[in-house]
Amino acid sequence: MKKVPLLLLMIIFGFSSLNASVFKGQRNYMKLCKKCHKSGGKLASSHTQTEWEEYFENGGAKLKNIHKNDQLAMKKLNSSKFNKNLKHLRQFFEKYASDSGNVPACN
Ligand code: HEC
Repeated sequence: MKKVPLLLLMIIFGFSSLNASVFKGQRNYMKLCKKCHKSGGKLASSHTQTEWEEYFENGGAKLKNIHKNDQLAMKKLNSSKFNKNLKHLRQFFEKYASDSGNVPACN
């Protein structure tokens, strides 16, 4: 009997840390990408989870490649803020990807 609440706690903790990551990703989206891409939910849902995985592989190599002619975008993509929060941004995009079944509540 003692094990059940502990397991439950672990599950709840697991979920909330994932949500915290999605939340951080969204906040970073506002700072790093929103200026040019407007709605993060829209951008997220224009690609599948697999596509987002590919964009964020190798420190976001594919993402950087798309933006290589855009100086301002590259400045953001090479910033320490981007590199530090890469995995949160990825969580955010994957959470609202076109095949995720999730729709952002706002923005
Ligand atoms: C300074 C403006 C700018 C910033 C900042 C910027 N982008 Fe972009 N991005 C662009 C432009 C312009 C294109 C279109 C390039 C093309 O289609 O040739 C683009 C294309 C893309 C694409 C591929 C096309 C699409 O719509 O699916 C993705 C994905 C993307 N950006 C994600 C991001 C993410 C994630 C960030 C933040 C980490 C970001 N961008 C920051 C300007 C920007």
